[in-house]
Amino acid sequence: MSLEPQEFMSKMVSRIGFTDDDRQVLQSTAGWGLEIAPAMADYFYEYLGRDAEMSAILNESEGRIHRLHETFVAWFHEMFTGMDNWGDAYAERRWRIGLIHVRIGIGPQHVVPAMAVVVHEAGKRAQIDDKNEQLREALAKICMVDLAFIEQAYIEVSSAAVLKETGWSEGLFRRLVKTGAGSM
Ligand code: HEM
Repeated sequence: MSLEPQEFMSKMVSRIGFTDDDRQVLQSTAGWGLEIAPAMADYFYEYLGRDAEMSAILNESEGRIHRLHETFVAWFHEMFTGMDNWGDAYAERRWRIGLIHVRIGIGPQHVVPAMAVVVHEAGKRAQIDDKNEQLREALAKICMVDLAFIEQAYIEVSSAAVLKETGWSEGLFRRLVKTGAGSM
């Protein structure tokens, strides 16, 4: 049950329909992406901070929120540049971001609404700045690719932990999950 980031990335790109045109439109507006990134970070952490649970995580250690502002700006900009044209480096980076969130204990219930906020707010800013519809669509798609990494990390890490602790086979584990879901 170990995820191969490049393979997962290709699968998501294909499922989400992230095209060469989407890549091009993002790369050609990377400057704008960087320009709005600090304000997007402010908006994002202000949103997360309104939730008591997430606020506690964000302010758990000294300097964390400051560091997060910087990493958010870099993350947001990377969605436009694609780092290595959305290749191996991009996939590895997204996988690492997923693992970091699992380690901190941030689950799908936190990440899904947070990404929705990014998509919605970035779309609004694109509209205000007279960017075309294709940019909004491309951005929404790459956000979904990134979201899939964080979500998948959660399930990969928890499944791997159960397998390691119990010595169960993957087949047995899947059967137990199915049975469990059936009895709920
Ligand atoms: C759209 C969803 C999210 C994105 C794109 C995102 C992005 C990131 C990035 C890029 C990092 C830095 C990873 C690194 O150090 O390499 C990070 C770390 C972190 N994120 Fe998120 N994040 C998201 C959701 C959340 C949520 C919902 C929380 C909940 C409070 C959260 C809390 C944190 C914390 C605590 C860290 C570690 C900070 C540290 O270095 O101490 N993130 N995130």
